[in-house]
Order: sequence, then C-alpha cells, then structure tokens
Amino acid sequence: MTDNNTNHDSGAGAEGPDRVIGTPSPAGESLAGATATAHERRHEGPYPAVETHPRPEEMQRKGEKLAALWFLVAFLAGIGFFVSYFSFPPNAEGEPAIADPQTAQYANMLMGGTIALALFAIGAGMTVWARRVMPHYEVSSPYDELPSSPEEKGSFSDFFMQGAHESGFTKRPLMRRTLLLAMVPLGLAPIVLLRDTGPLPGDKLKHTMWEDGMRMVVEGTDRLIRASDLDEVGGMVTALPESHDPEHGLSLNDQAKTVVLLIKMDPADFSDEMTQQQLDWTHDGIVAYSKICTHVGCPAALYEQTSHRILCPCHQSTFDAANGAKVVFGPAHRALPQLPVRVDDEGYLVAAGDFSSAVGPTFWDAEKGD
Ligand code: FES
Repeated sequence: MTDNNTNHDSGAGAEGPDRVIGTPSPAGESLAGATATAHERRHEGPYPAVETHPRPEEMQRKGEKLAALWFLVAFLAGIGFFVSYFSFPPNAEGEPAIADPQTAQYANMLMGGTIALALFAIGAGMTVWARRVMPHYEVSSPYDELPSSPEEKGSFSDFFMQGAHESGFTKRPLMRRTLLLAMVPLGLAPIVLLRDTGPLPGDKLKHTMWEDGMRMVVEGTDRLIRASDLDEVGGMVTALPESHDPEHGLSLNDQAKTVVLLIKMDPADFSDEMTQQQLDWTHDGIVAYSKICTHVGCPAALYEQTSHRILCPCHQSTFDAANGAKVVFGPAHRALPQLPVRVDDEGYLVAAGDFSSAVGPTFWDAEKGD
C-alpha cells in the first residue's frame, strides 16, 4: 500500500501542478490510473484505492490451505517442544537432568530445534497468508490537514473492520483456527519454563538457623561468649551461632543470615518506646540485632555508644539500638531484626529463638507475619 501525496498549497501552473519530492512522477500517476481501470476496485475506504495484485478466489483458497498446513506444523512443533522438555525429568536425587552435560546437549538441541521450527512455521504461514490471501491495494490520499475530520473518524471503525474482513482473518476459519491452535503451545512455553527457576522459597527467607539454646561465638573464632564477657557498657561484638561441624564450620550463607551485633547497654538507657517483649529479649543490658542492613544488605557495623546509634556505612542508614533498632535516618525503612538472647545454665550467652523478623533487605512480603 502506498500513499501518493499531493501538495495543495503549491498551486497549479499553466502546465499543471509542480511535482513535490516524494510524490510519484506524472508517469507513475498515469500508470496508477491505468491500473485502476484494469482491475475491479473492491476497497471501500475513504480514499481511492486500486487492487494492484488481484487474488482470484481459487488462489486464496489454496493459500488458506497452505497457511493452515504451516500453522499445523507450528502446533506440532510446539507440542514437540513440551515433549522434549518433559522427557528429561530430574534424576532420583532431585537434580535436574540437564545437570549432565551430555543430556543437556540433547535436551537443548531438541527444545531449541522444536521451538525454532514452530516459530519458522508460523512465519511461513503468515507469509503465505499475506501473499496469497490478503488483498494488496495502492491507496492515494491528499495531503490533508493533520487532524482527521469527523467523517474520517466516524468511518475508521468500519474501515478497520473491512480490513480485518478482507485480510481473511474473519472469513477464513480454517486459517484462523489453525493459527490460534499454533499459538497455544508458544504462549504456554514461557509459563512452563518458569519451573526451571527452581522451587519457591517458601518461608526460607524469613527464618535463619538460630533457635532456642544455640550458643554464640565471636565471629572469626570458635570462642564461646559468656554474658560476663560483655561487662562494659558500650561494648560491642559481632557474633555467630556455634557450629557443630568443626571441619567445615558454618556455610557462608548461614553466616550471612545469622550474624548479629551484640551490644552491652545500661538497661536504664532503653527507650520507653520499646515493648515489654523487646525488653524481655535482652539480658542484663545485652541486646542483639541483625548486622545485615535492611536497606540493601551491607553490614551495619558501626556503633556509636553515646548516642546508641548503629550506622550502616553504605548509605548512612542509622538505627537506634536503644529503641528496637528503629530507623532514625537514611534510606532503610525497616528496623534491624532483634535476636532474643538469654543465658544458659553454664553462663553462656544463647539465642532464645529466631530473629523477630526477616533479616536483610526488605522484600515484597518481608513484614508479613512479623
Ligand atoms: S545498605 Fe545500609 S544504608 Fe544502604
């Protein structure tokens, strides 16, 4: 479809209007006029239109069948993609089969090949549709004012529906149905592939390995911490749970989730705003907060004892250790989770449960069930 623009402002000289760049030459105009007389005009749009490549009904019917055949091939290839995908289930240990490089090679070849064939077949079917079924028009329109007139606006929906009808989409059910059929596996494929993003985390993000009675050690050592070790107000130590695997110790993941700041405060300095439960989670002025900043997870490792502020050096989020580690400044908007602490029979400092809320950066449902 082409537009032949006519400049109405250029005026007409004695020899006719001046030609404007981008418009057809006079020879081209006469050719279009000749074509107009050669073919029946079927297009009922607002502008003169000439069908430049007539499609006899017989040709359209054959085109419809050929396009439908391609769409069927696309559908079967799409099904083949799913068969290839589910033919390689996880092994008995629950590992994905494609963890084996040889199997992964076959699986990728099959899945890639079938999805490529499905896409190719849809493209081929649409090409056949466009070249053998859809009408091709050459439309001439004047270079009007840019805003459409009310008549043009009013005729748009009719014009659109007519185009949809002439394209064959509405009047050729075989082609339409096979196209929709071919699109089903392609539409489902991305949803099924979500399975490979792994199992849902469940509530793993909300819990750590801390549990009641678990002793604490000074980070980087195996030295257990007694409450009496923190005898000086203002003292602070970074602590982790005691590992019972002397060979490997705690995994890096567990260390990152469980690390706490143990701070010794004067019990009289705790804010009146702290709840009784938060106070019960302390022991003789010793309070434990997650060291992982709730902004984006840097270690909030700086403690200023006179103001009781815990500072994260990354973006200056500041938390009030005397008031449940509430945010007093900076981009974090969630308090550092508090770890309940107590002392066991032997005087060692132990956790009295897990953190009060999820540790680390805030995520979309981090505060559910706090
Ligand atoms: S990570 Fe702590 S303030 Fe940004």
